[in-house]
Amino acid sequence: MSVTSATAFAPASVGNVGIGFDILGHTFPALGDRVRARRSAAAGVRITAIGGVVRDLPLEAAQNTAGMAVQALLEAVQPGFGVELEIEKGIPLGSGLGGSAASAVAGVVAANALLPEPRPALELLRYAMRGEAVASGAVHVDNIAPSLFGGLVLTVGIDNPRIKQIPVPPMIRCVLVHPRMFLGTREARGILNRSVDLADVVWQTANLAGFLAGCYTSDLAMIRDAFEDVMIEPQRARLIPGFAEVKRAAMDRGALGCSISGAGPSVFAWCEEAQASAIAAAMAQAFAGEGLESDQWVAAIEAVGARVEETS
Ligand code: HSE
Repeated sequence: MSVTSATAFAPASVGNVGIGFDILGHTFPALGDRVRARRSAAAGVRITAIGGVVRDLPLEAAQNTAGMAVQALLEAVQPGFGVELEIEKGIPLGSGLGGSAASAVAGVVAANALLPEPRPALELLRYAMRGEAVASGAVHVDNIAPSLFGGLVLTVGIDNPRIKQIPVPPMIRCVLVHPRMFLGTREARGILNRSVDLADVVWQTANLAGFLAGCYTSDLAMIRDAFEDVMIEPQRARLIPGFAEVKRAAMDRGALGCSISGAGPSVFAWCEEAQASAIAAAMAQAFAGEGLESDQWVAAIEAVGARVEETS
């Protein structure tokens, strides 16, 4: 019997993870977006409702990350039916938590479940990338890949992306603090210098390699020493009021590393479980010192990505 309706959930994500600009990201399962896809006789994609923590998003499919991603899927597979989407946003807009990617991923995963022959996840990644580009004006995969596949994910290549799920030592927790302000990805990308000092490239390359090696070998000292973004964080820090104080608050309480989540303004820290709640409280207090209220979450980084929750 054919599936006429499917609901999918896609988790939030921490893009870049500090040292892997545009190529590394990890899921943050405490938050996510949900999309319900329904077969319709009319061709194409129609967005019928947007609810949850963000409502003011374009209903025009080509302007909406989920709409565009599903449109790309339908154009490729020509299933002979159209799709209606209902989007339930759990991720705040302009938060640096991968909300546009999660909607795109949840959209394609839900629509894929309607197909008589669902497409493999690596193919869905490309359609979701088309959706993500609508929001950020650039193709980057560091939120889409973890949201789709789950865990800490490295993506190599854009035209033929290769995905690698990196093991995360099980004692690691991610503390995420979202100051209640909006920061657009376009703006945060727009301020970045186009050229980078060679010494910084060497340092960043060593840190990324050291970070990944530390993850593979559960070497927390290596992860801590390598957890320093010398290329992007210094340029974006000024967009986030109190960033230096927030980072210091986390590091002083034993974080392994602390940086900007995606394009910001959320800030994340990696730490061991025992330190997590004190680090979250200290980071929130540092934002409060700047007059910014914030929300905080703590989660493990498990290799669980987007999934279909319901079909009928
Ligand atoms: N890698 C992207 C950036 C993530 O930092 O601009 C945006 O969500």
